[in-house]
Amino acid sequence: MPEPADRRPIYLVGFMGSGKSTVAVELARLTGRRAVDTDELIVSRDGRSIERIIGDEGEPHFRELESAVLREAAAADDLVVATGGGLCLQAANRRFLRRRGRSVWLDLPLERCRIRVGGGAGRPLWPAGDPMEARALFERRAVGYSLSELRVDADGEPAEVARRVLDRLSVPGGG
Ligand code: S3P
Repeated sequence: MPEPADRRPIYLVGFMGSGKSTVAVELARLTGRRAVDTDELIVSRDGRSIERIIGDEGEPHFRELESAVLREAAAADDLVVATGGGLCLQAANRRFLRRRGRSVWLDLPLERCRIRVGGGAGRPLWPAGDPMEARALFERRAVGYSLSELRVDADGEPAEVARRVLDRLSVPGGG
């Protein structure tokens, strides 16, 4: 008897600019799953941009919304979930990812993330002014990301990174 397919969500975690959203779309294409993005879910529920939510009500409120949409999204099978770069800050969220699905750290060096993020438009927590601050944040965040089930090199085209993820997860897709 063949093993039943593993339909648990695939969660992509990693720093701002590591490519979580674009790789999630590629993974969805290759596997026939649906891609969702925790930031997009928050914006569609709330009606304000992430910048506005954090500006108006502060980061702690945003983190509550983020934790809530993570749990809501987990109700469906066959998902690829691109998580916001700070979602792993909370130990309860890290535990949730590991319990509910397969968590994958898209690991990209800070300098590459910096190029992709540019001036940080739309990312209110990107430390645009101070390179040392960005480095410190990156290193603190890496501690949380490293608790993911898998760590995958995120350098390369999204389709290439998506195939790398599937190989590591041993999930079929795309041939
Ligand atoms: C954040 C990352 C952003 C978004 C918010 C906060 C962070 O998502 O959730 O601006 O704290 O790292 P991306 O990682 O998709 O940029």
